[in-house]
Amino acid sequence: MRRLTPAMLLLLAACGGGGATPPAEEAAAPPEAAPDPHSFANPEVARVERLELELEVDFAARRLAGEVELELSAPAAAGDTLVLDTHRLEILGVTLDGGDAEARWELGAEQPHLGRPLTVVLEPDSRRVRVRYRSDPAAEALQWLDPEQTAGGSRPFLLSQSQAILARTWVPCQDTPAVRFTYSATVRVPPGLLALMSAENPTATSDDGVYRFEMPQPIPSYLLALAVGELEFRALGPRSGVYAEPPLVEAAAAEFADVPAMIAAAERLYGPYRWGRYDLLVLPPSFPFGGMENPRLTFLTPTILAGDRSLVSLVAHELAHSWSGNLVTNATWNDFWLNEGFTSYIENRIMEEIEGAEYAEMLRSLSLQDLEQEAGEIGLDSPDTRLALELAGRNPDDGMTAIAYDKGAALLRRLEEAVGRERWDEFLRAYFDANAFRSITTAGFERQLRERLGDALPDDLDLDGWIHAPGLPADLPRPGSAAFERVDAQLAAWTGGGDAGAIQASAWTTHEWLHFLRGLPRDTPAERLAELDRRFALSDTGNSEILAAWLELAVHAGYRPAYPALERFLTSVGRRKFLKPLYTALAETEDGKTWARRVYATARPGYHAISRNTIDEILGWEG
Ligand code: BES
Ligand code: ZN
Repeated sequence: MRRLTPAMLLLLAACGGGGATPPAEEAAAPPEAAPDPHSFANPEVARVERLELELEVDFAARRLAGEVELELSAPAAAGDTLVLDTHRLEILGVTLDGGDAEARWELGAEQPHLGRPLTVVLEPDSRRVRVRYRSDPAAEALQWLDPEQTAGGSRPFLLSQSQAILARTWVPCQDTPAVRFTYSATVRVPPGLLALMSAENPTATSDDGVYRFEMPQPIPSYLLALAVGELEFRALGPRSGVYAEPPLVEAAAAEFADVPAMIAAAERLYGPYRWGRYDLLVLPPSFPFGGMENPRLTFLTPTILAGDRSLVSLVAHELAHSWSGNLVTNATWNDFWLNEGFTSYIENRIMEEIEGAEYAEMLRSLSLQDLEQEAGEIGLDSPDTRLALELAGRNPDDGMTAIAYDKGAALLRRLEEAVGRERWDEFLRAYFDANAFRSITTAGFERQLRERLGDALPDDLDLDGWIHAPGLPADLPRPGSAAFERVDAQLAAWTGGGDAGAIQASAWTTHEWLHFLRGLPRDTPAERLAELDRRFALSDTGNSEILAAWLELAVHAGYRPAYPALERFLTSVGRRKFLKPLYTALAETEDGKTWARRVYATARPGYHAISRNTIDEILGWEG
């Protein structure tokens, strides 16, 4: 194997391989290009436009093994290198253009969060680079589940989570949202299991365990996705359906019956759905997020199967990413709010179409509560409360806060109110058309906004402050929900010493319950929680959002009767949004921390690496 020494690489970079490569400043760059601090890739020299994957899924070894062929958008010039992102990947060999000869390649030094650059020296006119490799059992994107961690209980399960920079732990690629590619894949799994990807998917299990995928629309690497398990499909409409483990699939189909209406609503608002099908995959409860917008196949936590469709705004959110994020993509993770703020705004617009204005207003009111709470926790003068972030040198995960989601959505709402809904919707529609299948920076968005809407923006709207200043602007829209005001009245009566029997909650929806529980003082004593529990059996609720909010109160109060439910929840659910506040609350007292560490010792092996990283930090867990 001919490996390249760092000295050789330096030489190549310095002399441009004999002068055939233009200096970096002259290289053609797309208009919205920005250097991505979270990628080693050099798309300005060699840009990947297609992947062909061939992977074997080895549950016993907890590895994906095989190869990827990366196709470049243009033939290489002499001396060009292709730099790929890798993280804990074992690179077995690299060849060029279908040949057998080993190419010159080199794995650079490991950097925190980022992994190692794989630099391949291209031959003149090279167009294809084939990398043989295998993933590490500890690859952070992948979670390998034992049969006991599934609903079916008899077969193992594999799921991936590539966002933000974890695709590089299972595919060597240009792992930056500024680069898009189409892909095909051949995936071999144990017979009896179904494999699914963010691509055109099968609806039935194959006899031989071999699946062939094609993804015709170009996507950024963070949308590469794979899941393997015992799964069944149910149609929801002509272009949408749901995959779930057999014990859950009927409940899932009932819960998500509104999906065809959501797609129709989103299309009425923002133009055609451009990805062919929109299917859902309900994962085992260890999935670290609520949802992930993998194109054509949204990944979902089973904790939104409430039985009454009350948590489906999360599906509206992931569907909305089909426009904001998947179609028009944040150029770097510093621009994350362009993905999540737009999506949270559109999520709310879809829910307004489906459920009406009052319902949407409740959701916005909860979003404002999230924002005020988390902005306060981060610190109102912290640079991390700016929409435009500076995450260089850090884990891009640090940007996943209510700022991107709720402050971002609030800015779009403010803009809607400023220019009127009609003009605003027209702008958004044009924005999605103009930037379809491209990446965009915050500066690019600002430019387009001023170009197309500048004349309509009022003087008292400090756009620059909204985007670049920390804290919460004075003109933050404040939704007023009449339903929540009625809840507030009951809340005041009860916290003022009233009887739990007097609370009129029989008609409350999940959101009214959440508003009530969030409104309870954090120091509500255990005896008073016991009164609520006796009347409403909150410790036994099957609604994960209500349960999580209730358990947090129980921890603050030291309300022990809820602890068996708390332990069951922490050992069966791996969704980080729920785990984080619960472990944080437990860690506030010595007793709580001791209890949490005992439970965590059992629960930790069942959590995805993404959740483990967060909880390790909260509990000071080592090894
Ligand atoms: N794309 C995100 C999930 C994500 C963000 C993963 C950043 C990794 C890094 C997804 O669309 C999302 O926002 N999920 C939310 C649900 C939503 C309703 C706020 C979640 O999982 O909680
Ligand atoms: Zn999102």
